[in-house]
Amino acid sequence: MGIVIAFLFLAQVARAQNPAPKVRAAEDGLALTPPMGWYPWNEFGQEPQNEKLIKEIVDALISSGLKDAGYVYVGPDEGICFSRGADGKLTSNLTRYPSSLRGLGDYIHQRGLKYALYTDAGARTCSKAMPGTEDHEFEDMAAFAAWRADYLKVDWCNTQGLAHRTPAVHASARDEQDVAPAYTKLGAAQLAAGRPIVFSLCSWGVGEPWKWAASVGHLWRTTGDICSPGKADWSAAMKNTAANEKLYAAAGPGHWNDPDMLINGMDGLSDTQNRSFFSLWCMMAAPLMAGNDLRKMTASTIQILTNQEAIAINQDPLGIQGHIVRREGQAEIWAGKRLFDGSQAVLVFNSGTAPAQVDMTWSDIGSADSAALYVRNLWTHRTTGPERGGITVTVPASDVALLRLSKSRAFPLPPVIVADSYWLSFRAAGPGPQKLNGAITVRTAGSDELPLWKVRAALPPWLSVAVTRHGKSQTLSNTVSTAGLAKGLYHAVVRADNIEPVSGQPMSALYYDVDLDVADDAGN
Ligand code: GLA
Repeated sequence: MGIVIAFLFLAQVARAQNPAPKVRAAEDGLALTPPMGWYPWNEFGQEPQNEKLIKEIVDALISSGLKDAGYVYVGPDEGICFSRGADGKLTSNLTRYPSSLRGLGDYIHQRGLKYALYTDAGARTCSKAMPGTEDHEFEDMAAFAAWRADYLKVDWCNTQGLAHRTPAVHASARDEQDVAPAYTKLGAAQLAAGRPIVFSLCSWGVGEPWKWAASVGHLWRTTGDICSPGKADWSAAMKNTAANEKLYAAAGPGHWNDPDMLINGMDGLSDTQNRSFFSLWCMMAAPLMAGNDLRKMTASTIQILTNQEAIAINQDPLGIQGHIVRREGQAEIWAGKRLFDGSQAVLVFNSGTAPAQVDMTWSDIGSADSAALYVRNLWTHRTTGPERGGITVTVPASDVALLRLSKSRAFPLPPVIVADSYWLSFRAAGPGPQKLNGAITVRTAGSDELPLWKVRAALPPWLSVAVTRHGKSQTLSNTVSTAGLAKGLYHAVVRADNIEPVSGQPMSALYYDVDLDVADDAGN
């Protein structure tokens, strides 16, 4: 007893001296599950990124069913999107993006998707084709907010100039010393710009962001690039997996380890490798940013990328990253991923070139051997059991068994939230007070209805929002009243939270833009 008390006392002292770091997502409610979307880099590199390509991809996201499976963030990566004018301000590259970067964002928002953009913390982006944010942090974040970005990936190329800000003790430590201050400044600049934005840090593990970046952003790359543009690289994917697996303790709702974007559907992977790769990313609670050409996907790629049961473990609200608990030859047993309903996800991955037979006991995965567990295979969609003590799994070369184990035969799905629009645009023409209506519909692909969304942010006097439920969908009805408004443009960001009834914690935050253009004196 004395030892326990002493230990508790020490733990309390330690806590007082090292207060838990603030988690940015605890305030903005963003990325409470790993972000899902699409970025062009893995397939296309810098070329031929332009407005036409991104719009075609947006349309393919919708027609292929990826949007409904939860992939919502989309936009250009390093694709010569903007330049810096003599006044220091960023301007869109109108040759490549004739509608301007704001226009592209509107196209994306009108289709119920979210807008992702890319920049760099240094003087230039990696290819040097675009200006980086160094010394322009606040004005650039204001530009991304004005373009209505919802997600920003910030690279770490050409950052030598940041060195003078935090003098290095010795040269080899320079990167480690610079990364946190530079990204912290960018995080502050984003907050100052006033737009909620998912902040994706991309220093490839330099500066060990898993130790400090939860207070600054929502996800951070843990590794180098997963492939060169255009060709999937299985061995690089395995290298990234190994590096990312070790960092499992750092992941949680709103703060994710990012072992890089998906390579599913790219040239260079077999169907088996595609399935295994996706299973690993789901098990690691990794962001699911597809990187393939969505305009020409095989049925198998679509089936893998939209497997709702696999996505459900990635998007589980507890946000736990699974890890390797036992190795047997070339086979790995991954566990430690408890899910919201008390079940757990387990992955058996055979990284070898011959089939593997793995005897997995319940104690391997932290359960009592006496437990009677149902076993759900998330690729064959079959349930067996209940089994006591364990099971034997045979896994072909490079393949997986992705399983969910539960004391109950029911395997409910957590919510995957899809909204039909993230932008409402109103135009009041002519004089006189008018009432204009528009709506956002939100639905869940989960097993249960969600609690009612609650509008959280204070709304401007010209806007009111009412929430109604229809089964698993809810409608946020927006009413704009122009009475008393002078000619001009008005803008509001609406935040609605979906609150978990027991803990009172937001399970998800939804933001959308409402624009009002009062064309004439409408108020008199
Ligand atoms: C880095 C990043 C990639 C991509 C390129 C663009 O290499 O890690 O994901 O954004 O820059 O140049």
